[in-house]
Amino acid sequence: MAQRIQGTEDLYGGYMRAWQHMQDVARDLFGAYGFDMIETPAIEQVDTFVHGIGESTDVVRKEMFRVFSGALMERILGAGSESGLKAKQRMAMRPEGTAGVVRAAVQENFVPQGAAPAKLWYAEPMFRGERPQKGRLRQFHQVGIEVLGASDPAVDAECIIMLMEFYKRLGFDPKGLKLMINSMGDAQCRPAYRNMVRDFILDHKDEMCEDCLERAEINPLRSFDCKNDHCREVMKDAPLVTDNLCDDCAAHYAQVKKYLDAAGIEYVEDPTLVRGLDYYTRTVFEVEAADAGVGAIGGGGRYDGLMELEGGKPTPGIGFAVGFERIALALASQGKTLETPAPSCVYVACASPDQRHEVFDATLRLRQAGVRTEADYQGRSLKSQFKQADKLHAAVCVVIGADEVAAHQVTLRDMQTHEQVQVPADELVQKVTAHLA
Ligand code: HAM
Repeated sequence: MAQRIQGTEDLYGGYMRAWQHMQDVARDLFGAYGFDMIETPAIEQVDTFVHGIGESTDVVRKEMFRVFSGALMERILGAGSESGLKAKQRMAMRPEGTAGVVRAAVQENFVPQGAAPAKLWYAEPMFRGERPQKGRLRQFHQVGIEVLGASDPAVDAECIIMLMEFYKRLGFDPKGLKLMINSMGDAQCRPAYRNMVRDFILDHKDEMCEDCLERAEINPLRSFDCKNDHCREVMKDAPLVTDNLCDDCAAHYAQVKKYLDAAGIEYVEDPTLVRGLDYYTRTVFEVEAADAGVGAIGGGGRYDGLMELEGGKPTPGIGFAVGFERIALALASQGKTLETPAPSCVYVACASPDQRHEVFDATLRLRQAGVRTEADYQGRSLKSQFKQADKLHAAVCVVIGADEVAAHQVTLRDMQTHEQVQVPADELVQKVTAHLA
């Protein structure tokens, strides 16, 4: 039997409706903030992610799924390396949405000089070659937003306020959520801070793991997130970014907090929050659900240098993404669900095979009027058609038998009360829609 790949899921039934519900909530909420939907390709040039997410991040180094056509693979195997490939032949599945949206914004010029900020949202599968575990998948789904062309700290605060409102509308009790914020500095102050952390790690090299020693040179801030408890203990004494921000970044961070305070948003400042993607500057944030044990249920931040890294003009940006599967798990841990009930329908029951044509015609008319309609295709008895109708959550059954056909009528049976009325066959659609309303 063919097997689903580990770390991937089939979305169907209630789980699929939960994913659609999350998108509906997003569309409503983000729409009020002026966001339009975007979908970028699931495959991009490797360079889009290398430039944006950063060559030294785990996401790019270890987790990106590379894509090769069979023909290309043969060529690479023949040549013994992919070094002869052109940039456009080096492809990967998107591990996250931001780099692709920013690539599109550069290519399609979403933010021309003097234009209002581009506000975009997406709901898409992402792909990361991680070791599968609870809440950590190889194909997972994100709802995310990106705002391109605004550096005002009010925008940072608005994004965070909108994110927290999103959780609320998905059913979370805000008291059970922990919002962590930090500022990562910018091109002015971060390089010096990065060197301070590198020097700190090298000063403690006997106490740190191999990975951290490697990180010291390529990405020292990642050591704050090292999985090794001892490294994290050592890093508690490392210099903190918030003590080393330049005046502009410190003022920007102070403003963001002021706006959040004014909006009554509760947050915890975590100066070791560094996020796993290199493009962040200034504000970063992450949200966890208490006791859910699934890691972050969302995160984001500002990325004022990313448009340039993707080949565009300097343009500030900020955004966040929320993982659907983790949201579903976190809500379940609080005894809640994102799932909406299966939609009800109308069932057209056939009293005997002689009325098949009338049933076929009635089913068609109802469907054309937009009514979710089911019928029997297996020659079931009337009794088992009613049972089937119940299973399909039918609110109404339309029963067509010889008497009905002779009288140009149909019988409407309310599936809850089992009350039956006869109505003229040519008024079927009006009578059924009135009954449903
Ligand atoms: P991220 O923190 O890598 O950020 O992912 C955002 C969310 O996606 C996480 O908080 C988590 O809920 C979910 N997620 C991440 N990896 C997995 C996985 N392997 N399995 C299940 N869920 C996962 C980003 O992706 C950024 N692009 C967010 C952003 C947008 N920053 C600025 N704009």
